[in-house]
Amino acid sequence: MSQTATLKVDDTTYELPIVVGSEGERAIDIRDLRAQSGLVTLDNGYGSTGACESDITFLDGEKGILRHRGYAIEDLAEHATFLEVAYLMIYGELPTEDESASFVSDVTRHSLIHENLRLMFQGFPLQAHPMAILSSTLCGLSVFYEDSFAPADPEHADLTIRRLLGKISTIAAFSYKKSIGQPFTYPDNSLRYAANLLNMLFSVPCEPYDLDPDQAAALDQLLILHADHEQNCSTSTVRLVGSSRANLYASVSAGCCALWGPLHGGANQAVIEMLQKIHDDGGNTEKYVEMAKDRNSDFRLMGFGHRVYKNFDPRARIIKRSCDRVLEKLGVIDPLLEIAMQLETAALEDDFFIERKLYPNVDFYSGILYRALGIPTNMFTVMFAIGRLPGWIAQWKEMITAPDARIGRPRQIYTGPTARRFIPIHKRKGARHRTVGRHEKAPIRG
Ligand code: CMC
Repeated sequence: MSQTATLKVDDTTYELPIVVGSEGERAIDIRDLRAQSGLVTLDNGYGSTGACESDITFLDGEKGILRHRGYAIEDLAEHATFLEVAYLMIYGELPTEDESASFVSDVTRHSLIHENLRLMFQGFPLQAHPMAILSSTLCGLSVFYEDSFAPADPEHADLTIRRLLGKISTIAAFSYKKSIGQPFTYPDNSLRYAANLLNMLFSVPCEPYDLDPDQAAALDQLLILHADHEQNCSTSTVRLVGSSRANLYASVSAGCCALWGPLHGGANQAVIEMLQKIHDDGGNTEKYVEMAKDRNSDFRLMGFGHRVYKNFDPRARIIKRSCDRVLEKLGVIDPLLEIAMQLETAALEDDFFIERKLYPNVDFYSGILYRALGIPTNMFTVMFAIGRLPGWIAQWKEMITAPDARIGRPRQIYTGPTARRFIPIHKRKGARHRTVGRHEKAPIRG
């Protein structure tokens, strides 16, 4: 039975269809609202806005559920490889043995980057953030494949998808090697995805690199745990940029920029920096918990809270277990982990965090694990980007092939000055500041 919602504005009533998802989620379909009523909706931060219908990822933040194409993240993390999960995301089903072999072979064989693109790395300063290098180089890929990036052509799309998955880890590893002044290690097609990545990051020409299969497995699992998270900031960016029919390299590069911010993927770096700061400040976790609660301070406990998870983040649980395993095996005693545990306990027992349902998120533990694997702090978000790539691609593909695909273009409620006369420059006087938006003051030049 079709359901509707009734909206009454002034004396007019509007019937709006209700769309029901396969897990019973309900949404009021307002696509025709403006045409019917002249009204738009206002939803800062999109907390109540569904931007699309999607078959890819289901998450229930209240119950702490995350599933990709119906498969629980716990099962995928335990039983699948990263490239199997990538295939699942992008093509909708887990691959058969033959499909998997062919996909893995294609991705592996696309891991080399054009030598001219490699030269681009020479131009970056040594201290360049690897995320800046990653996003610009991903976009730079489009220069080399202009003959095959028509978004609507499925063959072009498949080729681009394989190229992106193959090349992103090479680019990521090169960005790290660049920052420490070491020679690049080229991809080794005999290695599996995560092992190849570790090899490119850590091997040097002058001595053999002892590749630890357990570390490679832990990294592969970390990548799986980041593979998709429905309409988060970076994924929405990829969809929005792609909706203009920009090529996939450009769309993914834009997603990378969105991911970089400390409120999103950049949080994993911010967590470690925060833990280090607390450690260097004597390890007084209570002081920082109090600071996070202080409304006059803009300090937040990085790695806590999530827009959607209001119970626990299932990815954080899996990472924590993996973290314990890896640290134990490596015999690593990380003082920052100790601080993280104290912070977690203090925050979870505190009314401020309980009332606001602020739990450790995926980024809280991933940084500790990356550290144990020897990955430097400024590479954490890059690792997140490699993991998130299948999700970006799958969401882009779904968006571009949707029968009702159209350019993304939100509306707004204008709150600025109403029409006024132009003032010639010699007659302008007065305020040195103008009001920006409704909140801040910004200086004007001149
Ligand atoms: N520390 C202290 N207070 C917090 C925190 C935190 N980490 N997160 C939220 N709050 C408070 C916030 O001040 C607000 O309090 P009040 O209601 O008194 O004003 C309340 O909790 C709700 O916060 P919000 O900012 O309205 O929530 P949001 O859904 O807009 O933001 C978030 C979600 C993840 C950006 C935010 O929780 C945060 O900044 N966390 C720290 C950064 C972080 O760990 N980000 C990684 C997210 S998971 C990986 C990913 O998917 O990107």
